[in-house]
Amino acid sequence: MKTQDTTALRSDSNAADISRKAFLKTAGSVALFAALGITLPGCGSEDAENIMGPDPEEPPSQDTGISISGNTITIDLTKDDTSSLATSGAWALIAAAQTLVVNVEGTFRAFTSVCTHSGCDRQWNYSNQLFTCTCHGSRFNNRGEVVQGPATRDLTEFSVTRNNNVVTIQK
Ligand code: FES
Repeated sequence: MKTQDTTALRSDSNAADISRKAFLKTAGSVALFAALGITLPGCGSEDAENIMGPDPEEPPSQDTGISISGNTITIDLTKDDTSSLATSGAWALIAAAQTLVVNVEGTFRAFTSVCTHSGCDRQWNYSNQLFTCTCHGSRFNNRGEVVQGPATRDLTEFSVTRNNNVVTIQK
């Protein structure tokens, strides 16, 4: 029965769109709870992701609060989807730009999301001030430094500037 339901969803573009919106809404909720230090059942697991920004597999259809132009990523913290990032401890994976961003006590830091172990770029979690690549379990602190292998190299850090509610990352 479950297989039939999934097939039906995939064949209905409206349902797929709703499903995508529900996912993005959930991702935003996860960010909010993460910012507040709350772990939801199942969301604190090694499989959790926190994806923000435009979907790299679809044409832009809405203002996500994150724009990407070449090597420059701009985050508008006044938007519903991104406002949670203004809270210390909040983080996001901007999948379309292969970038991790984290708010460390009011200072934003950004890193490549391409893991230095074997290149996974989407399997990220962040808790207790550590990024975990759930592909194989490598951990990096909030300065991008390896604290647990199998990775042996730090994450490349990008420069970040903030002007009031606009955060700009330069890759
Ligand atoms: Fe990240 Fe292996 S690719 S731990």
